[in-house]
Amino acid sequence: MKLIAGAISLALLSLSPTAFAKDIKVTSPDGGLQISLSTDKAGALKYSATKDGKTVLEPSRLGLEISGAPALEGAVKIKNVRRSTFDETWAPVWGEEDSIRNHYNELAVEYEQSGRKLGVVFRVFDDGFGFRYEFPRQSGLENFTITNELTEFAFPEAYRSWSIPAEKVNYYEGLYRELPLDSIGKASTPITIEGNGMVMALHEANLTDYAALNVEAQPGTHTLKAELTPWSTGELVFVTDTRVSPWRTLIVADSVPEMMLSRIMLNLNEPCAIENTEWIQPQRYIGVWWCYHKRTHTWGNGPKHGATTENVKRYMDFAARHGFGGVLVEGWNKDWWTYDFSFTEPYDDFDTDSICEYGRKLGVDFISHHETGSKVENYENQLDDAFKYCRDKGIRYVKTGYTTPLLDGKERHSSQFGVRHMRKVLETAAKYGVNIDNHEPVMPTGIQRTYPNLMTQEGVRGQEWDAWNKAGGNPPSHTVTIPFTRGLAGPMDFTPVTFDFENKILPDTRVNTTLAKQLALFLILYSPLQMASDMIENYERNPGPLVFVESCPTDWSKTLYPEAEIGKYITVARKDKNSDDWFVAGATGDDARTASFSLDFLDPDTVYTATIYRDGPDADWETNPYPVTIERKDVDSHTRLEIPIARSGGFAIRLMKK
Ligand code: NOJ
Repeated sequence: MKLIAGAISLALLSLSPTAFAKDIKVTSPDGGLQISLSTDKAGALKYSATKDGKTVLEPSRLGLEISGAPALEGAVKIKNVRRSTFDETWAPVWGEEDSIRNHYNELAVEYEQSGRKLGVVFRVFDDGFGFRYEFPRQSGLENFTITNELTEFAFPEAYRSWSIPAEKVNYYEGLYRELPLDSIGKASTPITIEGNGMVMALHEANLTDYAALNVEAQPGTHTLKAELTPWSTGELVFVTDTRVSPWRTLIVADSVPEMMLSRIMLNLNEPCAIENTEWIQPQRYIGVWWCYHKRTHTWGNGPKHGATTENVKRYMDFAARHGFGGVLVEGWNKDWWTYDFSFTEPYDDFDTDSICEYGRKLGVDFISHHETGSKVENYENQLDDAFKYCRDKGIRYVKTGYTTPLLDGKERHSSQFGVRHMRKVLETAAKYGVNIDNHEPVMPTGIQRTYPNLMTQEGVRGQEWDAWNKAGGNPPSHTVTIPFTRGLAGPMDFTPVTFDFENKILPDTRVNTTLAKQLALFLILYSPLQMASDMIENYERNPGPLVFVESCPTDWSKTLYPEAEIGKYITVARKDKNSDDWFVAGATGDDARTASFSLDFLDPDTVYTATIYRDGPDADWETNPYPVTIERKDVDSHTRLEIPIARSGGFAIRLMKK
């Protein structure tokens, strides 16, 4: 990741404690967003926020309760205040754009409580802010345990919000609920919030050696309070080496597209820690995968084993013919029948060397799979060997998985235990030059800036639910809700592009979209490692629409949202990072509509050929999902396109200079 431009200015200001009768303020570089810090009558530390004079947050509590060291109690005394400005533009290794501006004003406050020195640092951007706690090591605060994080977000009203519950939903695979903010109970972040002309998203950045953030609505108020995922023993965070908390972040935008394009989460992560990043390459892939979820094959060996050398080579041939860079193979290793997995021993009918060699000749990666069954100890015992095996065989991508709700039968994925484990895997993978697709992860928080080998993650109710969910699969609105909610946390391995909607096992469960919407989702649901998930037989039967997927990149120089309404519809335009091509896609939820948008983002005075894949005559997700109309037309930057979209339908366009 290289720095494109940078300017840092630092102004130090030390204030005497008597200066703190008044609020300490910091504004965003454009002056619109303002954070004020104060102590209340009881000496509790509070912050509030306004945007263009409107209240974003009323005075909201900051602070921690701890054990393992003398308690932090009573009044807080502010000791020192430092301000600085930072402005740089950096280039992500991959992403939705090729450069990101990181421009903020910082306010760093040192305070004292119960005789110990603590800190809180705010970074205020034009489109939101983040803050974190600092715990300088000192006598009486060497190692300690956080038992309660007091952080609050006191919204002035019960704004509309979209969230998933923090309890009783495994792996964040829930349907986002639209609820007034005071009714969300305990919810995971990100939480998307709309009200008083503002569009906001509450989340966290750089979750390192800490527990994931959840928030709980406080009865009788519009306040959300931090509730970190605990260890099985009840503690929240053991503070040892890492002396800062993750950033608590709030995007504050004027519109939905502005919220979607906010990059404060990435900016609040550390720069890339990997020196040579040439091996970190985005790509589209297919997999020996949907056959398991549709139960035509088994992960474990036997007569219906999916991961046979022959079957994998068949998939590799298809990938090479159709422009896919890799084939994910699940079920290659022992032992799926007991879940006592080995990560270095293939089943007898899977010849790793022959497959890797075959793939190398075709230019197709074998994307390996480490399902752990959440047996962390078993995985960690083999971790170095597992990734050394990858390096020795030339395996550059691994999908990891944790499909049992408690790690080692005890700890939650989003606890500090889970966070530590997943980071260990990522760092080990980086050491051996392996890219990761992490399923059943901790909710992403922008770590991919630092470790871009963390290419994608699940943590979303993906397309697999359309194979086996007894309640019928993902409803039409789901896929036009997750871009605005889970999508804010980073790339999603949703695995779209199913072409066959029939379900022999559960006839009432299916992919609840049109086929054209499946194409659209490939572009809309951003992932640098993007999967077309169906079995190759189903693509072979319908090659026309697949051409869009075969041409669609997964790494971008620019992204725009010409149309967007949370839970209803979305239109995205992305420019390829490696050519002049633009790609545009749109999708609807429950209602049909006509997308209407200008192509004014195209280069001026240039004619482009648009290849449009859209819902065909009478297409409807419920009654007639398959028709796709493919048409070509010349367009330029003055063109306005009007494209009818069916219920739960979509369109996808490739625009090439003529
Ligand atoms: C759940 C994952 O999301 C899915 O992709 C995978 O096939 C199964 N676990 C088995 O590991």
